[in-house]
Amino acid sequence: MDRVNLSFEEYGQGVPVIFLHGFPFNRTIWDGLVPLLQKRARLILPDLRGFGQTPPTRGVYGMRLLADDVLGLMDDLQIEKAALVGHSMGGYVCLAFARAHPGRLAGLGLVATQAAADAPERRQERLKLASRIARRGVKILAENMPTRLTAHASWNEPLRELIARTPAQAAAGALRGMAEREDAYDSLAQIHVPALVLAGVEDQIIPLERARLMAQMLPKGWLVELPGAGHMPMLEEPEQTAEALRELIHCAEAGLK
Ligand code: MLT
Repeated sequence: MDRVNLSFEEYGQGVPVIFLHGFPFNRTIWDGLVPLLQKRARLILPDLRGFGQTPPTRGVYGMRLLADDVLGLMDDLQIEKAALVGHSMGGYVCLAFARAHPGRLAGLGLVATQAAADAPERRQERLKLASRIARRGVKILAENMPTRLTAHASWNEPLRELIARTPAQAAAGALRGMAEREDAYDSLAQIHVPALVLAGVEDQIIPLERARLMAQMLPKGWLVELPGAGHMPMLEEPEQTAEALRELIHCAEAGLK
C-alpha cells in the first residue's frame, strides 16, 4: 500500500524524539508533555494514518505499515536516527519499527504497551468491533473506552470527545491491524538501544506484568512504574512521565554521540 504523508507538529531542538499516539487517539494526547520537554529535545508529534489530521486510507493498518509511514516522515525530515516513544498501539508500531529499521533508532520509549500479540479470543473481539465500527461509527468506542482508560474522572469527557472525532475507517483499519500483529518477544533481544518501559500500575487495558517482562527482556531496558496512573500516564502523571522521558533522551543522546 502507498505510504501517506503524516501530518505532524514539532517543537524544540536537539535529539529527535518522535511521539506515536495510541488507539483511537491523535497527537494531541502528548500536548501536556511539550512544555516539559521542548527545551531538552526536538519533539516531533505525528498523527498516524487516519487519525487527527492525517487522512484515512482503506484497508488494514498493519503495525509495519504504520511504522513505514513514520520512516517516510523521518526521510522527509532528513532524520537519520530518532528516539521513538509510543503509547499503547503506538508502542506496537515502535516494536515493528525496531524490527524493520533497527539502524534508524536511537532509543525507545514504550508507554502503557506490550510485546504480546492478541490472544485468539481478543483477536476475534477486535475483528467484530472493527466490522461494527465500519458500519455504525465510533460512538461505541467513545462511550465505552474512557472509564477504562483512566480513573481520573476529569479526563473522561475530553477523552470521549477526542475518540468521537476519530474517523470510523481509521478505527476499523487500526483494529484489524492490531488483531493481526505478531508477538514481538523474540525480537526484543535484538533491540540494542536504550529502552524505557513506562507503565501505569492501575492500567486496566494492558497488565503490568507484561511491561515488567518486556523491560527484563530488552538488553538496555529499564522499567518505571507510576502508581497514580492507569492507561494514560501522559495525562494522569505528566511530570513523572516527562521525568522518565528526560532520562531516555539523555541516554539516547549519549548513544548518538
Ligand atoms: C491503545 O490504547 O492504543 C489500545 O487500547 C491498545 C490495544 O487495544 O491493544
